[in-house]
Amino acid sequence: MMRSLLFVPGDSERKMEKAAASGADALILDLEDSVAPSRKIEARRLVAAFLSGADRGAGAPKLIVRVNALDTGLTDDDLAAVVAGAPHAILLPKAGSGADIQALSAAIAVEEAEAGLPDGAIRIHALITETAGGMLSAASFAGKSARLSALAWGAEDLAADIGASSNKDERGRYTDVFRLARSLTILAAAHAGVDAIDTVFTNFRDPDGLDAECRAAVRDGFSGKMAIHPDQVDVINAAFTPAPADVERAVRILALFAAAGPDAGVLSLDGKMIDRPHLRQAERVARRAGLEPGALPVQD
Ligand code: COA
Ligand code: MG
Repeated sequence: MMRSLLFVPGDSERKMEKAAASGADALILDLEDSVAPSRKIEARRLVAAFLSGADRGAGAPKLIVRVNALDTGLTDDDLAAVVAGAPHAILLPKAGSGADIQALSAAIAVEEAEAGLPDGAIRIHALITETAGGMLSAASFAGKSARLSALAWGAEDLAADIGASSNKDERGRYTDVFRLARSLTILAAAHAGVDAIDTVFTNFRDPDGLDAECRAAVRDGFSGKMAIHPDQVDVINAAFTPAPADVERAVRILALFAAAGPDAGVLSLDGKMIDRPHLRQAERVARRAGLEPGALPVQD
């Protein structure tokens, strides 16, 4: 379950330590845009050291590394520095199409073999709306690598790529291209069968604004949201934790279908029709609540 994913500049030992205690479900140790070119080598060293020293137990945050984009010439050296530390996932920025996922997956496989890690152990998350090309290729991210487990969107780099001077209008609402980026990420993730992760809320002194954006994200199908500041973590975790009543209802629906067997199409619960889309929705809620599929009660 990854409700909150907190970005941390990879060249800041102090922030990495603070982030580990933030309560975030995952940390994104950044080698890309939050690190100046002159600090890239130092950041690789610090992130590798953090990976080898951090608590990796059950309650500890998952550790994800954002590498530099494939066209920078830095990606291979980033991977060579961090893969041996067995991060949970590599986050690829400015992903242009499914071919980039295949290329990254092959590069990770080489480093996994060198480090003696099992093939496929490290997952891939991708930012797919940072370039016009990535957005227009949204459907191509499906089915390219079993490593792919989440798609996310970003608004800042896309503005630069298309020449927009702002991504929001006078009322603070994302303009159409950015709303499209958000929508395409939801669709591309569902199409690929992976999680959709909402973009950062940059005004880290506005918890109410963040909360409103989280609630809209939950409503629209995102399973988590990226953060840039530790103060944002609790707000995000709360919003993406399903309410107990919703979890209870999801468990009842799952139990009903489990008891009815694989051929069940339509059932009834509390005098209302329940069919396959309700089952899929219940599975999502249960997953967001952190329930293992095998741990669900079966009614008879
Ligand atoms: N992870 C861990 N710790 C963080 C943090 C983060 N993302 N952001 C802030 N902190 C720490 C600060 O170091 C500070 O700790 P200290 O007082 O012990 O030094 C404390 O939280 C309070 O920080 P604050 O003063 O409110 O903010 P700031 O001005 O120091 O930092 C940012 C503001 C935006 C520079 C900072 O939040 C940050 O680096 N965010 C991540 C940026 C990033 O990775 N961007 C790439 C993806 S968009
Ligand atoms: Mg960026």
